[in-house]
Amino acid sequence: MSTAWEFLFFCFCLLTAFGITLTPNGSGVVRVVVKEGSDAILPCSLSTKENAESKLFDWKKDGRKEVFFYDAGLHYNNGRPGQDQQFKGRVSHFQDELKYGNASIKIRNTKVTDSGDYSCDFPRLQPRQIFHIQLVVVGASPEPYVKTLNQTQDVALLQCEVLGASSKPTVEWQDSAGNKLPAEEPQVSERGGSFYIILQTTVMKTDNYRCVATQEEIRHQIYTEIYVYICEKLFSKGDVTRWFFGGIILGAVIVVAVLALLVATKFITVRRNKAVERQGNR
Ligand SMILES: *[C@@H]1O[C@H](CO)[C@@H](O)[C@H](O)[C@H]1NC(C)=O
Repeated sequence: MSTAWEFLFFCFCLLTAFGITLTPNGSGVVRVVVKEGSDAILPCSLSTKENAESKLFDWKKDGRKEVFFYDAGLHYNNGRPGQDQQFKGRVSHFQDELKYGNASIKIRNTKVTDSGDYSCDFPRLQPRQIFHIQLVVVGASPEPYVKTLNQTQDVALLQCEVLGASSKPTVEWQDSAGNKLPAEEPQVSERGGSFYIILQTTVMKTDNYRCVATQEEIRHQIYTEIYVYICEKLFSKGDVTRWFFGGIILGAVIVVAVLALLVATKFITVRRNKAVERQGNR
């Protein structure tokens, strides 16, 4: 027991000696998740909070691509060469934050290919400090594709397909009031890092149904609607009297309308005849 603790402590000292900073989530890596096309802020702050304006720090992606380099005021956005083509014109630091030891950067208009492991390195500090940030850029799922697979007299089988989402969205069917409909287990497959999901449901009422895809981690939600007409039985019990009286009223309305039309027609005829007579008199 005690030797195990001693061993752990020894490891910890070793890590610290090599300048690896452990962050609270245990893995030593901060995870940032953003939606494709939006901006990402990758955090990096010196534990000592000492002024970094005159220091040197270097941001790299996957240990080789140069993302952002700062050396006492000189950096990639004011003349220093060497930045990787992928990040040209898209990365900036926070000048006013440097004096608090904050060397965070912002990557604008992120692409899925920006996903990866980033490091923020202060190689000249004693001890050296390196921070690791994992960036995940999630492609937003496109509008679901919905169709009626099969329809009989009183039920319809609806299918929703969500194609090409780079993080697995939850997919559900809802009625027009927003209630979740019971559905089959979704069929999920993965192809080249993209998810492909199919969800079927059976409905028995005429309504506007929607299939909703949600990606919680990037607060993205998108849906497609489909109108389904189910031929409900007309002459069920209780409907007969309603149709009977409805028919009588409709009949009465038609009779009145026809009478009115007849009167109007006659009136017009009379006036036209009079006009003709007048012309004849001249
Ligand atoms: C560092 O600066 C960024 C940008 O202003 C900010 O979002 C972040 O919270 C700051 N970090 C700390 C630890 O103050």
